[in-house]
Amino acid sequence: MTDKCNLNCMYCTPLEKNQFLDRNEVLTYEEMTRIVILFAQLGIRKLRLTGGEPLIKRDIIDFVGMLRDTGALEEITMTTNGVYLQDRADKLKRSGLDRINISIDTLKRERFEAITGFDFFDDVWKGVEKALEAGLDPVKLNVVLMKGINDDEIADFAQLTLDRPLIVRFIEFFPTNKRSMKYAGSSLKSDEVKKRITGHFGMLESVSGVKGNGPSDYYKLAGSKGLVGLISSYTENFCNNCNRVRIDCAGRISPCLFSGHTHDMRPILRSGRFDDEALVRMMRDALKIKSRYRKDKLRNGQLEMSSIGG
Ligand code: 5AD
Repeated sequence: MTDKCNLNCMYCTPLEKNQFLDRNEVLTYEEMTRIVILFAQLGIRKLRLTGGEPLIKRDIIDFVGMLRDTGALEEITMTTNGVYLQDRADKLKRSGLDRINISIDTLKRERFEAITGFDFFDDVWKGVEKALEAGLDPVKLNVVLMKGINDDEIADFAQLTLDRPLIVRFIEFFPTNKRSMKYAGSSLKSDEVKKRITGHFGMLESVSGVKGNGPSDYYKLAGSKGLVGLISSYTENFCNNCNRVRIDCAGRISPCLFSGHTHDMRPILRSGRFDDEALVRMMRDALKIKSRYRKDKLRNGQLEMSSIGG
């Protein structure tokens, strides 16, 4: 949706002064919708809106409605930092958003400010509550764990699932850009996270069939309403199961998050001709080469999650 974010997270936002795209480089909602319709014709009918931070976009609620009205999509979801969610959760749901993932790495207000640069914990937490009330289903929390930074909160996060239908997902931190490289040793393995949860709450029941098709393994604590998920982004290679294709806000298709290779649709979109065939050809090419990429060929320190994350 955008290459900008309203937070400044210690492991995510680039250190160097950000080179944001010009306004006219970012696709219009009409252009985005056209792409969505064409991808849907190729069978890709599940869409996740991400960023940057999608909720900083003006008229995002209307855009969700516009996407829903195409009738082309089975599911529309969003990944957000939740800062602007409390007033929008209900409207998003009514416009056609099905479910939501909220990134939240701590439950402590001061620590939230230390991690993100802003004192917005209360806003995010209200956003989580409003998302549950609005009936976005499920509401997933994304928790990136780092040793010595927030790994003392594993039990507190897991505890949330006891009396709320939340899905709390612990994500193994992986170094992406230059800023995050210095935390390379801070990643906490999912095995270890699981051990700590069982140590605290007892046996976990493995659960399948959770909406999302993603890379997470899900578990249930005894008697809980929600679930915990473990995403082994660092220790496991789930390239073989990856069914995602990313499109950034400038219209570049990214077949693999880690490859850096893109296919630029904007010149075709703006050629002045309604050349759907050329667009579809490019989409097919991008999908075809997707299987060639492997996570181990990481683009070293050059992946900016703050502009293509999710
Ligand atoms: N390692 C793991 N997860 C990350 N995210 C962003 N950067 C990283 C990283 N280096 C997570 C965000 C968000 C999701 C889209 O990706 O916290 O929840």
